[in-house]
Amino acid sequence: MNFSAYLKNDAYIDGKWTAAASDKSFAVFNPADGSKIASVADCGKADTERAIAAADKAFASWSALTATARAEKLMAWHALMLAHENELANILTAEMGKPLVEAVGEIRYGASYLEWYAEEAKRVYGDVIPHSSGDVRTLVVKQPIGVCAAITPWNFPNAMLMRKVAAALAAGCTMVAKPAEDTPLSALAIAALAEQAGIPPGVLNILPTSKAAEVGQALTSSPIVRKLSFTGSTEVGRLLLEQCAPTIKKTSLELGGNAPFIIFDDADIDAAMEGLIASKFRNAGQTCVCANRIFVHRSVHPEVTQKLIDRVQRMKVGPGDTAENDIGPLINVAAVEKVEKLVAGAMRAGAQVLIGGDRHAAGGLFFQPTVLDNISNDMEIARSEIFGPVATLIPFDSEAEVIALANDTPYGLAAYFYSRDIGRVWRVGEALEYGMVGINQGIISSAAAPFGGVKQSGLGREGSKYGLEDYLEMKYLCLGGIAE
Ligand code: SIN
Repeated sequence: MNFSAYLKNDAYIDGKWTAAASDKSFAVFNPADGSKIASVADCGKADTERAIAAADKAFASWSALTATARAEKLMAWHALMLAHENELANILTAEMGKPLVEAVGEIRYGASYLEWYAEEAKRVYGDVIPHSSGDVRTLVVKQPIGVCAAITPWNFPNAMLMRKVAAALAAGCTMVAKPAEDTPLSALAIAALAEQAGIPPGVLNILPTSKAAEVGQALTSSPIVRKLSFTGSTEVGRLLLEQCAPTIKKTSLELGGNAPFIIFDDADIDAAMEGLIASKFRNAGQTCVCANRIFVHRSVHPEVTQKLIDRVQRMKVGPGDTAENDIGPLINVAAVEKVEKLVAGAMRAGAQVLIGGDRHAAGGLFFQPTVLDNISNDMEIARSEIFGPVATLIPFDSEAEVIALANDTPYGLAAYFYSRDIGRVWRVGEALEYGMVGINQGIISSAAAPFGGVKQSGLGREGSKYGLEDYLEMKYLCLGGIAE
């Protein structure tokens, strides 16, 4: 496998590649075979404080650049990411496990945020509001919030960082990012390309670490850091929100989901099947927006079940760097054990395994693509985010019933439904309590779209013009003395 010059071992702080202050490092493993890929600087509190100081210093000059000047650098970075997409994808597949074709897709998806925000930064408009006095004008301007922190997950080690960093840098903010312990190499490779693209020292800092709590605490408690953006579990998001409270930081939290995927009796079943396969089995089921509960109208249940089994039967499981494989390994032992436990619990509660249901014969961290029937909405597997290649089928009889079931969760990230009835499309789209709804569409992610959830799935939006707002502060200028 070609790992290239972009495989880095050091942290990236203030434009320099540097060992951790403690001189300690930690190992990064390939989940497909357990082999060691690299030893990476294990950053702690001192490194975090150094990175925050560097980002603070860089903020003055970076935010003073015109949006056009910042956009030029982001576009140079975008071009480099695309030019090196295969090297980046190889690193991503090695540390995370997803099939190479999905990894290349992720690099392009990640890079698309650079292009989108390079363009969008030029459209940060203010307002002029009429005032009741002729001598006064009311103006609104938008300014970058300052130094931002990002804590990013292992399931999209490139795209989740790019979604945050592109918006932050386009807005004129600087950033200190902590990638997930399992997947720091993609973030470091991104920084190497940022350096090559001419992003100035201190504007982007990357802190690999095995001490997430220590670095997280240093980021959230710093009064210099004005905003935190986090993608990960609701449990950790809640903790980070508490830690941000004393310094009243702005937060964007993209947290857990429990996506319903509803197939109505009037759906185009083949289209629904395409959407379901993409939504459920992308990244081996390890996305926050994966179909987690598949509600199927009782009248089409036999057809859907048969078609799903046919598709799942053909899926190839194995290392992501082998071209024909569709499903890679799960990220670590804890992930496999969690999926195994959820499946076993569902079976004890009366679920029927239609295909799969166990670890894969390939061994290690591979799990069989699985279809479970006879699931009910109160089973543990339907209450939890599965984060594995397990499809759970729940039959329903009416629209009102399925909306109530779909909304019966504390989460509200993504939902999907398939129907060809225009009235139903509108009714159900409005009734689902989710931040994002895919209608006759199983893949909803795009740089142009506001990604984010309601309820316990998070705060704020990433992507689109709304994602840029999350890195800007509004300032009201009251201008008097106009009259002669
Ligand atoms: C996620 O799983 O958090 C993000 C998935 C996506 O952007 O499509």
